[in-house]
Amino acid sequence: MISQRAKNLDPYVPGEQPKDREYIKLNANENPYAPSGKVLEALSHLITHKPLSLALYPDPDSNELRSAIAQSLNASSGVLGTMGTITQQIELSISPDMVFCGNGSDEVLSVLFYSFFNADKPLIAPEHSYSFYPVYCGYYGIPLNKIPLNKDFTLDTESMLKASRESCCGLIFANPNAPTSLALSVENIRKMLEGFPSNKVFVVDEAYVDFSDESALCLLNEFKNLVIVRTFSKSFSFAGMRLGYAVAHPELIEVMTRVKNSFNHFPVDIAAQTAGIAACKDTLYYAENAKKIIAQRERLIDFLRKNGWMCYDSKTNFVLAKKDGISGKEIYEKVKTDGILLRHFNTPVITEYVRISIGTEQQIDKLIKSLEKI
Ligand SMILES: Cc1ncc(COP(=O)(O)O)c(C=O)c1O
Repeated sequence: MISQRAKNLDPYVPGEQPKDREYIKLNANENPYAPSGKVLEALSHLITHKPLSLALYPDPDSNELRSAIAQSLNASSGVLGTMGTITQQIELSISPDMVFCGNGSDEVLSVLFYSFFNADKPLIAPEHSYSFYPVYCGYYGIPLNKIPLNKDFTLDTESMLKASRESCCGLIFANPNAPTSLALSVENIRKMLEGFPSNKVFVVDEAYVDFSDESALCLLNEFKNLVIVRTFSKSFSFAGMRLGYAVAHPELIEVMTRVKNSFNHFPVDIAAQTAGIAACKDTLYYAENAKKIIAQRERLIDFLRKNGWMCYDSKTNFVLAKKDGISGKEIYEKVKTDGILLRHFNTPVITEYVRISIGTEQQIDKLIKSLEKI
């Protein structure tokens, strides 16, 4: 009765959501702040004044939302990305036909894998990156060539390029990467693209870019095979709403749209479209929250390093940390008894680490108190 395909699946495991008590959730890289007042107003206006819109199908191609995203990205070009934290000064000219929207960036990634990665050659990805990439490879039958990270957890870009030139259907990595929290500079991404086959798609997943310094959006004009994936889940506080997008050359977006229309015509519902448009017009609010999160991140890193922990220079809304003599799982268990959830991993190389999402100042206060006992 069960298909062989379904039997072979090895699904993604998200951060746990236990209900036995109230936890401070620092395990899924969610944003501790609610969406902006303008988003809440737009949603309440939708329900109060346009209730019938809930009964009608939404715009299948999210046209107004795609325009709003393009506009907000272009407007942010002085401080590239969407947040005031990004310092790179580049003029962007992103048009709505360069934007594809989906039900979270997980769905955007799924469409992208189906659209561009064939099963006859391997996809190149770092050994440690977003753990949904191997899941989609399994789902679509795409072989995966996982390239180990350097000892310091940076990407081994030379080996990734060498493997790509030998045989690949495409390449993907998250930048900043997860769970390492480290970022590759745009200059290094440019160098990779220069040596990468121009007839294969090169994907940079920028889920955490708004907590970093620079975005690869400025390379889109030069490289027609570059796809940048982004999400509203992290810096825009939309993890519960589900909204993500890809930015790329219109010809690639057109292919993704064709694939989307063969699978789910209406991936972004009316509430997410409405909220997304409002959020794009309120980026200052999100920039302020990103700054608060970055401040807490740096405070936590400082605490950890002063107390004998090892952790990386994070460019994300989480830190990856370890302490000698105790495993990631043990740290996770100890902190859980204080009502705080962290993420630990069973994958070799990173089993010693815990990944800690950055919360509010009060949440980090409580976490620090709990970690002091370790
Ligand atoms: C690197 C990366 N990409 C994509 C996603 C998916 O985000 P969403 O589906 O919520 O947009 C995540 C989620 O944690 C992530 O870490």
